[in-house]
Amino acid sequence: MGPGMMNAPGSGLGQAEELYFNFRASFNEALALAVFVSAALALVVSMIFSRGVIAPVQEMMSVSQRIAEGHYNERVQVRGEDELSQLARCFNTMAGQLEQIETMRRQLIGDVAHELRTPLTAIKGSMEGLMDGILPASDETFGQIHQEADRLSRLVDDLQELSRVEAATFKLDLRPVAVVDLVDSALGRLSRQYEEKGVTLTSGLPADLPLVQVDEDRVGQVLLNLIGNALQYTPAGGNVQISATRDGDEVRITVTDTGIGLPAEHIPHIFDRFYRADKSRSRRAGGGSGIGLTIARHLVEAHGGRIWAESEGGGQGSRFTFTVKAAK
Ligand SMILES: Nc1ncnc2c1ncn2[C@@H]1O[C@H](COP(=O)(O)OP(=O)(O)OP(=O)(O)O)[C@@H](O)[C@H]1O
Ligand SMILES: [Mg+2]
Repeated sequence: MGPGMMNAPGSGLGQAEELYFNFRASFNEALALAVFVSAALALVVSMIFSRGVIAPVQEMMSVSQRIAEGHYNERVQVRGEDELSQLARCFNTMAGQLEQIETMRRQLIGDVAHELRTPLTAIKGSMEGLMDGILPASDETFGQIHQEADRLSRLVDDLQELSRVEAATFKLDLRPVAVVDLVDSALGRLSRQYEEKGVTLTSGLPADLPLVQVDEDRVGQVLLNLIGNALQYTPAGGNVQISATRDGDEVRITVTDTGIGLPAEHIPHIFDRFYRADKSRSRRAGGGSGIGLTIARHLVEAHGGRIWAESEGGGQGSRFTFTVKAAK
């Protein structure tokens, strides 16, 4: 402290007081300003921030409302990379899947209606012919009507089975099973039909094939389906061969026929429901409805396996293969 200040104590106190008041006034002023500015800033920042949060959430709410009303093509806008944008992206994915399911549902109803119409039209036509006396009341007429009714009921059974496997509501009873047992039981069930048609059915399995971990009934159904198709699409005099090989921790089971074969353009579609390579053939009595392979594919995939078809082309025979897991 300087000696000058000590020499004038009275006036020094007054100056100090004034200094203090001035200081307090400007401090308060600064404080008030700071409080005001920061409050204003906080308000602006929170407004900007909440607008960034609220606007997308509101958009999602209104889009979900639109989707619930059946407008499945609605999507929310994705703006950035933050959590809300990720949520928006997930929301859009979900909306896309809903749209796809809805399209499939519509298509299924259309396909089913179309498939039911064919035998129903035939039955109705025959009945009208009978009533008008155009068709004779012969065994042949009744036989035709019965055949169409039979086809109708097979179709309904297949559809029921398809809806079960597509919904994946069935439970697999997985156990170690010998491939030879699977093949023998399928052969046993179809051998008579093969004999009747004049198609030979043989199997050749390696002796060291491991057991497979499968639901015996379900895989039996797949085999029956493939062997049944092979018979259906192979003319008399042909032959059908069942073989199997080990491939790592899987076993491949193959059904090879010398039948009508598959032109390359049909191969990618034959596992789709209601798809037939030759529609006119299937329309004739005894023709299938194009569901068998779809069911087979679902059953194989439920086991974690794959199924595919190969053919050198029309008239060159076909080869259907599916994989199942070897038992541990
Ligand atoms: N072994 C085969 N050789 C040639 N074409 C085949 C063979 N297996 C299937 N296909 C073709 O694939 C289509 C679909 O077969 P899928 O078993 O699904 O139906 P489907 O036999 O017509 O009727 P179903 O539902 O009664 O089985 C058949 O219509 C046929 O065109
Ligand atoms: Mg079939």
